[in-house]
Parts: sequence; C-alpha cells; structure tokens
Amino acid sequence: MNNQPIGVFDSGIGGLTILRALRKALPNEHLIYFGDTANVPYGGKSKAAVTQLALKVARFLESCQVKLIVVACNTASAQALTALQKKLSVPIVGVIEPGADAAVKATQNHKIAVLGTQGTVESRAYVKAIAKRCKHAKVFQQACPLFVPLAEEGFSNKPAAKLIAQEYLQPVKKSRADTVILGCTHYPILKKLIAKIMGPQVTLVDSADTLARAVSLFLQTHHLAAIGRGRVKLYASDAPDKFTRSAQKLLGEKTARATLKKV
Ligand code: DGL
Repeated sequence: MNNQPIGVFDSGIGGLTILRALRKALPNEHLIYFGDTANVPYGGKSKAAVTQLALKVARFLESCQVKLIVVACNTASAQALTALQKKLSVPIVGVIEPGADAAVKATQNHKIAVLGTQGTVESRAYVKAIAKRCKHAKVFQQACPLFVPLAEEGFSNKPAAKLIAQEYLQPVKKSRADTVILGCTHYPILKKLIAKIMGPQVTLVDSADTLARAVSLFLQTHHLAAIGRGRVKLYASDAPDKFTRSAQKLLGEKTARATLKKV
C-alpha cells in the first residue's frame, strides 16, 4: 500500500481526458495534475524545447513526492519520454504505447490512421510503436494543429470546428483506415465531431482506458496501490481560474481551484 500521489501532466487541458480515465479506474489514488498553460501548445515546438519544458514540469511533480508520473501528452511522450526516464528517478509512463496497443487490437483491415500534433507526427512514434506490434500494418499520419486551440477555447461544437475537421479528415477518409488513433490528448474533446465525419464504420481509439489499465497493473505489481478515497489537486502555470473551469467541466466534478505554479 502506498498513498503517495500519481503525477499527471500535459501542456493544457488535454491530459485531463487521461486524468478522467485514471480517476474512474483508480478511485483510491490521489492525483496531481499539472497543465502547462503558460506554454501551450507543445505541438509545434522543437524536440529540444518540448524536452526542456517536460523536464521542468516532471521535476516539479517529483518534488511533490509522486510515486509515478504519467506523461498525459502525446507530443511530450513522443519527444521527451526517454530523456525524462533517464534524468528522473521516479517511474514514468507515456501515452504512445497504450494508444498503439489499443489500435492494433481494434483494426480489422490493418490500416490505422494517426491524428496528432506536428511534433508527434514528425517523431513517427506511433508508426514505430505500431510496427513493433504488427509488422504488416499500414499507418497514415495526419497533423491537426488547430484542434488544440479549438479544444482549449471550448470551440468543439462551433461551425468553425466542423469546417476545420472536415479539411483535416478528408485525406484520412481516403486512406481507408478502419481505426483512427486520437494521438493527442486534446482530441477526445472533439471526439463526437471526428466520429460524425469519419462515420460509424471507423473505430476511434485513444490511450486513456488502456493507459489506466496499465497504471493499475503497475501499481498492483509493485504493491503501490493506495487505499481510501483519492483526491485531485490541480496546478496550472498560467490563468488558473480559466483552467479550473475547463477542468471541472471535463472531469464532471467540483475540484478545488488550480494553484498557479510557474516552472
Ligand atoms: N495534448 C498534447 C498532446 O497530446 C499537446 C497538444 C499541444 O500542446 O500542442 O500532444
């Protein structure tokens, strides 16, 4: 038994889709979430810049005595996970491997499309993770950079979001993929819209549930599971009130106001 918290971070509100899955699967765990709202988006930044930002956030979480860090950001998982694992002593997991796992299990025609940020697409992290699991799978990648600000600004139901999604998803439809990975933790916020455009024959997968199961297994195997009722503590590196409102809406629960923390 271990009642230390689990640290979770993303550039902004996207990683809350992962936090929500962790909260549901592991209600006993104390969760600390850091939204790096001063630096969002990570998606168009260089690998060096993303690594530097992710390191600062992860070091802060480590200073909170977390027992595990979840990189709830595909861009940081793709570009900085190895560096974080080398530099910190706390165990760290990312979202790419669980997402690839879920997609390979879901596909019937072995054609998988990955929607992600520029950084995630350029890293080819999903292409590699899928190839490890299924050599003959064909992977089509599409960067959708405007999805992040649409999600951050609560624009997922606006006509502008539909127009942008139609533009991004047209080539994805042509790829004939039967499975589409929402390879950015912000994209599940636009899931309804993406599902409507892609049609019912296409399965949308994200890392949230698979990752939550992997974390649960990790805690059990290492005898690190908590007992009692878990709490959520939020931090944001800028605009904590706006962040708190978005977080409460996404999590569907009333949380304490996010603490402003510059890193
Ligand atoms: N939510 C993040 C991801 O999963 C980052 C989006 C961004 O900041 O560009 O990639």
